Amino acid sequence: MNINQRKVDYPVDKLFPNRWSPRALSGEPITDEELFTLFEAARWAPSSYNNQPWRFIYAKRDTPSWEKLFSLLGEFNQSWVRNAAVLLVIVSKKTFDHNGSPSKTHSFDTGAAWENLALQASLMGLAAHGMEGFDYDRAKKELHIPDGYQVEAMAAMGKLGKKEDLPAALQEREQPSDRKPIESFIHEGTFKA
Ligand SMILES: Cc1cc2nc3c(=O)[nH]c(=O)nc-3n(C[C@H](O)[C@H](O)[C@H](O)COP(=O)(O)O)c2cc1C
Repeated sequence: MNINQRKVDYPVDKLFPNRWSPRALSGEPITDEELFTLFEAARWAPSSYNNQPWRFIYAKRDTPSWEKLFSLLGEFNQSWVRNAAVLLVIVSKKTFDHNGSPSKTHSFDTGAAWENLALQASLMGLAAHGMEGFDYDRAKKELHIPDGYQVEAMAAMGKLGKKEDLPAALQEREQPSDRKPIESFIHEGTFKA
């Protein structure tokens, strides 16, 4: 049993079930020390050829960049992200630095970096919430992301807030989700549909 009541079937470290994606954020800033600690965690992710294809475009609240990133989000996400401290657009480089050839794992590697960041945030008592509800084409154009890079996702980070301050519909959903059983995603030897 963990603090957020998630139950695990095997004895993993509580780091894993304790990470979740809260939407109730307080609107308080986080320090640069905290922000860069999250980027440091991302930095240590593994990647094919150690290519480190992840890129993070960030905007802190109350800075000129904030509106640019915030305006990319859909209405649903804007309703709760307005209380975040930092917004991220997560991008991956599609080719290897050493020879320019296409990487098959740029998204996979970048997902690992994002998860490192999210786990570190959770350990620090901060929220880190991934999002795909935003305009990918506008992000690429308006943030001047060059060809050869792929927009992967956005994320909102910040200090935890009160559930009561969320729009009513979101309050009901403000709890850690469960997972499918292990048997539903493992296949011994060959894929079985
Ligand atoms: C890549 C990605 C995109 C997501 N997009 C959104 C989103 O647009 N809006 C939102 O509120 N949550 C979004 N989520 C949060 C997921 O719904 C959440 O991670 C999932 O339900 C599992 O819950 P947990 O993170 O609390 O364990 C996203 C998560 C990921 C990893």
